[in-house]
Amino acid sequence: MATAIAKADNRVRTEYAARIGHVSKSFAGPAGTQLVLDDITLDVAPGEFVTLLGASGCGKSTLLNLVAGLDRPTAGSIETPGGRPALMFQEHALFPWLSAGKNIELALRLRGVPKPRRRPEAERLLELVRLGGAYGKRVHELSGGMRQRVAMARALAQDSQLLLMDEPFAALDAITRDVLHDELTRIWRETNVSVLFVTHNVREAVRLAQRVVLLSSRPGRIAREWTVDIDQPRRIEDSAVAELSVEITEELRGEIRRHGQH
Ligand SMILES: Nc1ncnc2c1ncn2[C@@H]1O[C@H](COP(=O)(O)OP(=O)(O)O)[C@@H](O)[C@H]1O
Ligand SMILES: [Mg+2]
Repeated sequence: MATAIAKADNRVRTEYAARIGHVSKSFAGPAGTQLVLDDITLDVAPGEFVTLLGASGCGKSTLLNLVAGLDRPTAGSIETPGGRPALMFQEHALFPWLSAGKNIELALRLRGVPKPRRRPEAERLLELVRLGGAYGKRVHELSGGMRQRVAMARALAQDSQLLLMDEPFAALDAITRDVLHDELTRIWRETNVSVLFVTHNVREAVRLAQRVVLLSSRPGRIAREWTVDIDQPRRIEDSAVAELSVEITEELRGEIRRHGQH
C-alpha cells in the first residue's frame, strides 16, 4: 500500500489529467456523415474519478477512444499531459498463451521496466488486485472476474496518470461486479490515479464516481453533470446511491425519449 502511494507521488503533477476541449466527431457512412459527438468540453482533475454515462450508441466509446489517442477528433482538442492513458475494456484482451503474470510483464516491458524488476512488480500488482499466487495461471484457468482483475493489474502496470475504462464490468454477474466495484474504489484511493469510466448503468456510475457526466444521444452532447457527495466506500444498495440514481435515471429516460431510441 505504501509503495503504491509513493509511486503516485513520483508522477508528474499536472493541472488536469485530461482536457477535452470542444471535441466533435463525425463518421462518414452510407447515409452521409453522422455527427456522433458534438462540442464536448470536459476536464478530469488529477486523482478524480469521473463516470461518463449514456444510452448505448450515444458515443461513449468513441469519446474514450479519442482520449486514448486511438482516433482523432473531427474538431476540438484533447490533452493528456501525464502521458499515454491506460485502457481497460469489457473484454479482458489478455493474451491466452501467456500466464497472468506474463501478461502484466508484457505491459511492464513496453513501459521500459528492466527485466529483473518485472517479475516482482507483476507480483506486486497481482497482490494489489488480490490475485497474489495467480502469477503462473493461464487465462483459461481464471474466472471472468479474475480475468478482469488481471486486466486491471495490466492497465495499472502502465503506471499512467489516467485510467480509461469502457464498461469493464458489464459482462460480469452482479455479485462479481459488486466486489470489483469495491476493489476499483480501493485501488483508486490507494494509487491516486485519475479514472474516466464509461457505463450505461446509472447505479454503477453513482456507486463509483465523484462526478457523473450524462451524455445525450444523437449527437452525444453533455446533457448534465452531478457531483456525487457520498462517502466512499459506498454500497450499490445505499439509500443515498439509490436516490441520486433515481434522479439521474429520470434525466436519462428524458434523453432517450427525446431521441426516440429503444
Ligand atoms: N469507426 C466508426 N465508423 C462509423 N461509425 C461509428 C464508428 N465508431 C462508432 N460509430 C458510430 O458512433 C455511434 C456511437 O458509437 P459508440 O461510441 O460505440 O457508442 P456507445 O459506446 O455509447 O455505445 C454509433 O452510432 C456507432 O455506429
Ligand atoms: Mg461503448
